[in-house]
Amino acid sequence: MSKLIAPSVLAADFANIQRDIEMLNNSEADWIHIDVMDGVFVPNISFGMPVIKAIQKHAKKTMDVHLMIVNPDKYIETFKSIGADVLTVHYEACTHLHRTLQAIKASDMQAGVALNPHTPISVLEDVINDIDLVCIMSVNPGFGGQSFIENTYKKVIQLKDLITKSSAPTKIEIDGGVTNKNAHKLVSAGADILVAGSYVFKNENPTQTIKDLRALVNS
Ligand code: DX5
Ligand code: ZN
Repeated sequence: MSKLIAPSVLAADFANIQRDIEMLNNSEADWIHIDVMDGVFVPNISFGMPVIKAIQKHAKKTMDVHLMIVNPDKYIETFKSIGADVLTVHYEACTHLHRTLQAIKASDMQAGVALNPHTPISVLEDVINDIDLVCIMSVNPGFGGQSFIENTYKKVIQLKDLITKSSAPTKIEIDGGVTNKNAHKLVSAGADILVAGSYVFKNENPTQTIKDLRALVNS
């Protein structure tokens, strides 16, 4: 499978959300990454259902929704109804992770689990075959524009090893501080999907930046 680029709309211009989503539709972006923060699980609030609905109205690509919220189980069906194709919950926010994963799949979405930088890969050993995607956080979740944490490479290699040993279908996503400086090394370590917020949207030419990043990781 070719490596995927998932621009994060957290760094988009919310006053021009239609323009920015259409830019992504017309670019080489594969997925649209959508960050939901509740001010409880993380020290920031991003946006909720009405904004995601507005994105859905225009989005023509896979909607990859990353929930940085407590009690995600409460909202699984709601996120499906507003367009989520992939729904990722945090390991640290789920007491009954196995149940949550089954509920996401029962709602006909791909089930993802995100791990904070301090959470070891080994916690997923007993559920890896139930996970469609593991999102390794390469920054502490809550804000865009932070610096990439170098320990991430080691975690990608460990996760790839676990997936291979378990013959699991799981994809590896990296989220936070992704740029052209670390993208190639990340996919060489085993990453399948790279999320990029600031690096794409703060660039003068986001369409070209996405194209270059995609070419870099598929070279
Ligand atoms: C961080 C979010 C990220 C964020 C990435 O909590 O989960 O998806 O948008 O932004 P950058 O690429 O700017 O680090
Ligand atoms: Zn994210």
